[in-house]
Amino acid sequence: MTAGQPLAETAPILPLELDRVSFEAGGRRLIEEITLTFEAGPRTLILGPNGAGKSLLLRLCHGLLRPTTGRVIWRGPGAALGPGGPTRRQAMVFQRPVMLRRSAAANVAYALSVNGVRWKDRRALVGEALERVGLARLAERPARVLSAGEQQRLALARAWALQPEVLFLDEPTANLDPAASHAVERIINGFHQAGTKIVMTTHELGQARRLADEVLFLHWGRLVERSPADSFFTQPRTPEADAFVRGELLWPCAPPPEEA
Ligand SMILES: Nc1ncnc2c1ncn2[C@@H]1O[C@H](COP(=O)(O)OP(=O)(O)OP(=O)(O)O)[C@@H](O)[C@H]1O
Ligand SMILES: [Mg+2]
Repeated sequence: MTAGQPLAETAPILPLELDRVSFEAGGRRLIEEITLTFEAGPRTLILGPNGAGKSLLLRLCHGLLRPTTGRVIWRGPGAALGPGGPTRRQAMVFQRPVMLRRSAAANVAYALSVNGVRWKDRRALVGEALERVGLARLAERPARVLSAGEQQRLALARAWALQPEVLFLDEPTANLDPAASHAVERIINGFHQAGTKIVMTTHELGQARRLADEVLFLHWGRLVERSPADSFFTQPRTPEADAFVRGELLWPCAPPPEEA
C-alpha cells in the first residue's frame, strides 16, 4: 500500500459473494438461485453448454445486470465505500471489444480518465500497458483498424492500465486464431501473476485446461458443479459435466427440472 493513497485505491473489494442470485427476462428464469463466493487467488473458469447462463452470470457479477432476486455483495473493506465506489478495481473484457474512434493509446488513456486517473499520470500508464500487451509499436494507429487479435490485446491493455483487482473475461478468444489466442492467454496469465483475480468463460476445453485453477459448471442457469480444475477434468461429479468434458454436451441436454 502506498502512503497517502485513498482507501478506494488499495483496500481489497474481494471476496465477491452471490447470495441466491436469480435473473429473469422474457418471462423465463435464466439464472437460478446461485450462491457462491469468489475469493482472491485461483483463476476461476466458468464452463457450460451454449445458453447455460455463463455470460449472464459474469454480467451479474460485474454489475451490468441487476439480479431479479438475491444479492451480489463485494465483501472486502475496499467495497465499504458504497455505490459509485471503487469501480476501477473491477474490469471486464468481452468477446468483441468496442473501440473508440481514436488511436490505440488514446483508447487506453480514455479508460484511465473515466476512472479518475489524473492527466499527468496517464501517459506512463498508457505506455506501460501497451508495452505489456505488445502493442507499443502501434500506439498511434487508429484502434478500429487494428486486427481482431490486436484489438483484443488493446482491450486487455485498457484493463491492465487500471490494475484491477478482479478481471471478468467473457470468451475473450472466441474470434481469434490460435496464435492470437495464445497471446491473449499469456496476457491473462500476466494479470494472474500480478495478483488480479481472473473470472472467465470459454467454450474451448483446451483453453480451460490450460488456464483454470477451479471450474464452475453451469447448466440451465444452475450452478451444477464447482471443483478444482484437476478433478473437474478427470472426475466430473455430475453426468452433465461428464458429458461436457467428453465434448458431447454442446447445449442443455434436457429441459430444466421445473419444465420436465
Ligand atoms: N435479455 C434476455 N432476454 C431473454 N433471454 C435472454 C436474455 N439474455 C439472455 N437470454 C437467454 O439466457 C440464456 C443464457 O444466456 P447466456 O448468454 O448467459 O448463455 P451463455 O452460457 O453465455 O451461452 P454461450 O456459450 O452461447 O455464450 C440463453 O438461452 C439466452 O437466450
Ligand atoms: Mg456467452
